[in-house]
Amino acid sequence: MTEPLEATRHYLQALFGAEEGILPTIRQHLKRHKLPDISVPPEVGRLLSFLVRLCQPQHILEVGTLGGVSGICLLQGDADLVTIEKGELQAAVAEESFALAGLADRVEVLVGDARTVLPTLTPPFDLLFLDAEKSEYPDYLELAIPLIRPGGLIVADNVLRRGKPVYPTPGDATATGLRRFNRQLADDPRLDAVILPLLGDYSFNSIDGIAIARVNLSVA
Ligand SMILES: C[S@@+](CC[C@H](N)C(=O)[O-])C[C@H]1O[C@@H](n2cnc3c(N)ncnc32)[C@H](O)[C@@H]1O
Repeated sequence: MTEPLEATRHYLQALFGAEEGILPTIRQHLKRHKLPDISVPPEVGRLLSFLVRLCQPQHILEVGTLGGVSGICLLQGDADLVTIEKGELQAAVAEESFALAGLADRVEVLVGDARTVLPTLTPPFDLLFLDAEKSEYPDYLELAIPLIRPGGLIVADNVLRRGKPVYPTPGDATATGLRRFNRQLADDPRLDAVILPLLGDYSFNSIDGIAIARVNLSVA
């Protein structure tokens, strides 16, 4: 019998169809450049595109570009994207991906550590997608909240990664970072947040989760 997560992915694909447009070509492009297979899976890409259609942001900020798969999912409608990537190779592959997708003129790829790049950016952004180093999520959040307009959205991937924040191992920086991040989402009066449990990543049959938070309108 097909194992449950794979069967569920097949079921969702049968319902909604396989990934469309340029994305399969972009995933092949990343494979050719030997980038790791850690782009958002199709169901998360679909969720990002759905959130963009729902909220119609004009200016989107992303932390963790890799090869541009999530960036392309975010570039619905006429939004523009600033995306931060610390790896030069990844940023170069992403530039090619955005060009292949015909989106290069709507994207700025900034190369550097998000913790030094974020304080240099000019607000406001309408939507932030966090998908870089999980242990650094609390730093990204603190630096990025002032960049997001009141009413804007913050989406963060992998916030329940393999149950690490639920069953933390002493000394595990990912577990510690995600526990701090999730606690801040729950407690920060500037935010109104939910965390949705998700299917695990492709290579590990385990739980994951995505956080969706709104910056409160009363935050100046
Ligand atoms: C999971 S991948 C991003 C996948 C991408 N969002 C997608 O779905 O197409 C994480 C990326 O974050 C980058 N990264 C890690 N730490 C970073 C940091 N401090 N600043 C900027 N980028 C970082 C890594 O080099 C890697 O390419």
